[in-house]
Amino acid sequence: MGNKKIIVTGASGFLGFNFITNVVDKFNVVGVYHSHKVELPRATSQPLQIINNRDVDQLINDIRPDIIFHLASVSNPNQCENNPGASYGANVKGTRNIVTAAKSIGAKVVFTSSDLVFDGNNAPYSEKDTPHPINRYGEQKVEAEQAVLEYQHGVVVRLPLMFGPKSPHSGSFLQPTVNFLRANSPVTLFDDEYRTPISSRKAIEGLLLAAENDASLVHFSCGERINRYEFGLKICDYLNLNKNLITKSKQEEVEFPASRPGDTSLDIQKAKSLGFNPGSLDEEIKWALEYI
Ligand SMILES: NC(=O)c1ccc[n+]([C@@H]2O[C@H](COP(=O)([O-])OP(=O)(O)OC[C@H]3O[C@@H](n4cnc5c(N)ncnc54)[C@H](OP(=O)(O)O)[C@@H]3O)[C@@H](O)[C@H]2O)c1
Repeated sequence: MGNKKIIVTGASGFLGFNFITNVVDKFNVVGVYHSHKVELPRATSQPLQIINNRDVDQLINDIRPDIIFHLASVSNPNQCENNPGASYGANVKGTRNIVTAAKSIGAKVVFTSSDLVFDGNNAPYSEKDTPHPINRYGEQKVEAEQAVLEYQHGVVVRLPLMFGPKSPHSGSFLQPTVNFLRANSPVTLFDDEYRTPISSRKAIEGLLLAAENDASLVHFSCGERINRYEFGLKICDYLNLNKNLITKSKQEEVEFPASRPGDTSLDIQKAKSLGFNPGSLDEEIKWALEYI
């Protein structure tokens, strides 16, 4: 992929920042942010409101990238539920704007979607399973996926819960959990919410693999099913923190604006057939904890 020009949206976000930091040697990178200005070592950083189709068109036609890694999103399901209009703008209209501009120059679009397009009742989910979201974030991701998949150079990468080093403005669930435990504060975690979480570095490998293979639609995950409570215990083990600070709870005991699927484990047979090596979840957690 040497010397290719790429645009990465969501450069100030958790995944976007980690992605750019990892790929600056492979590509000529322009990273775009929205409200959080970000310095990107060895990459150009620019503001862009993806809801504004003229701005999107102009930027993409000026830069003429080979690939657009479209990682920007209102990614918090509760925020999407509470502000459906604003989140629809960013998640659906913004994605359509990116696809329309990409079409005009023939650029590839690699879009990050989510395991939350599924209702959680029939895991594990493969690419052949029909999405059935139970919250607005999931609905918006499904609509955005359709816009990307209708484009011949569109690639949709579905990702599960992620963890890894934080960006200057955004982190994963790991950081607050570790901070609470280190401060000897109690933490309550669901033992009935199952995911197949992925480290940011493995998600980045997946994004690059999907781009190289024109994968159309592909799932990436660690391939290991775990609930949040078990994940918390692993954190305690690896950082030598007090496990008694963690209490189990059930989803139904807590009310959130957005409904939460019980088990959205992702099947990664297709990813493996493309050469993806998920590694081991334990190794990935240990790696991520080095950056806490
Ligand atoms: N984190 C996870 O566990 C997870 C799991 C599955 C899938 N995903 C997906 O992976 C992708 C990256 O997630 P993330 O955790 O890195 O998200 P994040 O940390 O919340 O970052 C979101 C990024 O989107 C940008 N953005 C939001 N609205 C925008 C707009 N209207 N115009 C331009 N940029 C806008 C934000 O820019 P500013 O901050 O500058 O405003 C920020 O850079 C998303 O597509 C998300 O849905 C995430």
